[in-house]
Amino acid sequence: MAKSLKSPNKGGTAGRGSGKSTRVYGLRGVDLGVTDLKSRVRFYTDIWRLAPVVEHPGSVYLRGTGPYHHVLGLHARPRADLLRIDLTAPGKAEINAIHASLKKASLAELEKPASINEPGGGYGFGFKDPEGRTIRILAGDKRHADAGTRADRPIGLAHVVLNSADVDAISGFYVEHLGFRVIDQTRMMTFLCCNEQHHVLAFARGTAPTLNHLAFEMPDIDSVMRGAGRLRDGGFAIEWGVGRHGPGNNVFAYFVGPDDAVIEYTAEIERVGKSYKSRGPEHWTWPPGRMDQWGIAIGPTDRMKQAQQRIAFAPGIFHPAG
Ligand SMILES: [Fe+2]
Repeated sequence: MAKSLKSPNKGGTAGRGSGKSTRVYGLRGVDLGVTDLKSRVRFYTDIWRLAPVVEHPGSVYLRGTGPYHHVLGLHARPRADLLRIDLTAPGKAEINAIHASLKKASLAELEKPASINEPGGGYGFGFKDPEGRTIRILAGDKRHADAGTRADRPIGLAHVVLNSADVDAISGFYVEHLGFRVIDQTRMMTFLCCNEQHHVLAFARGTAPTLNHLAFEMPDIDSVMRGAGRLRDGGFAIEWGVGRHGPGNNVFAYFVGPDDAVIEYTAEIERVGKSYKSRGPEHWTWPPGRMDQWGIAIGPTDRMKQAQQRIAFAPGIFHPAG
C-alpha cells in the first residue's frame, strides 16, 4: 500500500508551499546556448514546429501556439549550455515577495527586481539557485492574443527535468522559496507542481546539476505520433517511447535533438486539484521489464541517457547580448 508522501520541506509541509504570496504559477520557457544558431532555428521551426517571434543578432526567440511570448530562446554560444529557466508569477507583489524570501537564502547571486528589457518584457529578476542553475521569475510579460491549440504543433513548454546530486535538498528549496508543491515522488524523481498541471519541474537523481530533458506539450496523442514520425523523417530516432508515464499520466516520445539536448513531445498531462493524492516511491513501481503504462516503448537508449548528462548551466546570470 502506498505511504503518504514525505515532503522534503523542512517543516514536513506537503501542501502548497510556505507562503501564499511567495508562489510562482507557471513555466514560460528556457534559453539555450547553441553552437550553430541558424541550423538550430531551422530544426526547432521546420521539424519541432515552434515559430519565430523575434530575431536579434545572435538570438532567436520561438513561440508555441499558447499565450507566452516565447517558450524557447536560442542564443549563439561557443558550446551548448542551458542558460536560464523562466518561471512566471502572478504580479509585482508576488515577485517582490519571492525576492524577499530568496534574500534570506544567502544565495551567491540574486538580482534586484526590475523592468525587463528583453523580448517579452515584464518585471522580474534572476538568481542562481543553490546548485548553480540560473532561474528568472517574471510577471507582466507579453502574451499573445491568438493563443490556442493547433494540430501537430507544440502549445508550449510543459516541463523541465533537472538532474541533482541532492534531490531532496533542492526540491525543499523550490518548495520553501518559490511555493512549489511536491506532487509525487518516485525512486528516481521528485515532481513539483505550481498550477493545475501535474508538474512543470522535476528533479532527477544524478551526479551534477545538468539538464535531464525539456518537454513540449502537444495538443493530443495524434500530434505526438505525427511529430515522432516527422522527427524520424528528419533523422532523429525515438530514443524512448511512445509510452505513457506513471506520475502525470502523460504520453511521451523522447528524442536527442541538436547539441544533444534531450527533448520530449508530450500530451494528456494530468490536471490536478488540491484533492490530488500525492504518492511516494512505494506506489510508483513497475513490473519487471516495464517503465511505462503501455509497455510498447523503445528505449530509453544509452545514447539518450548519456545525452541527459551533457548540458550544464552556464556560469553567471544570463542576459542576452544587444
Ligand atoms: Fe518528461
